[in-house]
Amino acid sequence: LSESPELRPKRPGERKGFVEEMRFVAMKLHTKDQAKEGGKEADVQPVGSWKPTIQGYLQFLVDNKLIYEVLEALVRRASHSFYTEFQDTGLERSEALAKDLEWFQEQGHELPEPSLDGKSYAEFLETIAEEDPPAFICHFYNYYFAHTAGGRFIGKKVADEILDGRELEFYKWKGELPKLLNAVRDKINRISEEWSREDKDRCLKETAKSFKYSGKILRKIIS
Ligand code: HEM
Repeated sequence: LSESPELRPKRPGERKGFVEEMRFVAMKLHTKDQAKEGGKEADVQPVGSWKPTIQGYLQFLVDNKLIYEVLEALVRRASHSFYTEFQDTGLERSEALAKDLEWFQEQGHELPEPSLDGKSYAEFLETIAEEDPPAFICHFYNYYFAHTAGGRFIGKKVADEILDGRELEFYKWKGELPKLLNAVRDKINRISEEWSREDKDRCLKETAKSFKYSGKILRKIIS
């Protein structure tokens, strides 16, 4: 009885739309020092005490370029037709990262190859995009949205520490970011209305995996 749609208890955020459910699950996976809604005790060094290195940050940027290239190629390939909705959202990051990496090369830095962590996440995304669209959308949402939230804060901190405050292209969007984000939220909300509750729950459950993979890439900054 409790599983009949009318009687089932609502998931947190459900009344506002599915993206709010995804956001709620993501915020709980932050530590308390990362975000005030965080639900976990700190398990890694807080960003405030990070000692980034150029080599580590370059690895992080190279890995990010790979992941965004893959995400952008996958929505372009559209193995499931609704992925076309996520083409040209304005959130794309691979070109901006290519420019930044070129700049580092001009400064005399040699670029590393993508790391094993980066490559295994890229491969995982390829597979899940084919096999499980709701799970893929979880990764898509978390990867793009994390970068616009905590990612920017981390970028500023790193720039102040090791780049004389230089703001990279990675942290600049064409157009107003809140509008771009809202347009993607609306699309995810609309598309997920077609999903069963099981599809939605599988998508939410994928958040932990998204954090695990992204966390490994994030920690390259201090490697
Ligand atoms: C939002 C910090 C890592 C996914 C946020 C917010 C902060 C934050 C401050 C904004 C909360 C608000 O709206 O008031 C951080 C820090 C991180 C980190 C410091 C690591 C050191 C991650 C990771 C992921 C992630 C690894 C997942 C891959 C998200 C998502 C949001 C968010 C989906 C919601 C964005 C939105 O509603 O627009 N984070 N975060 N974060 N973060 Fe993180």
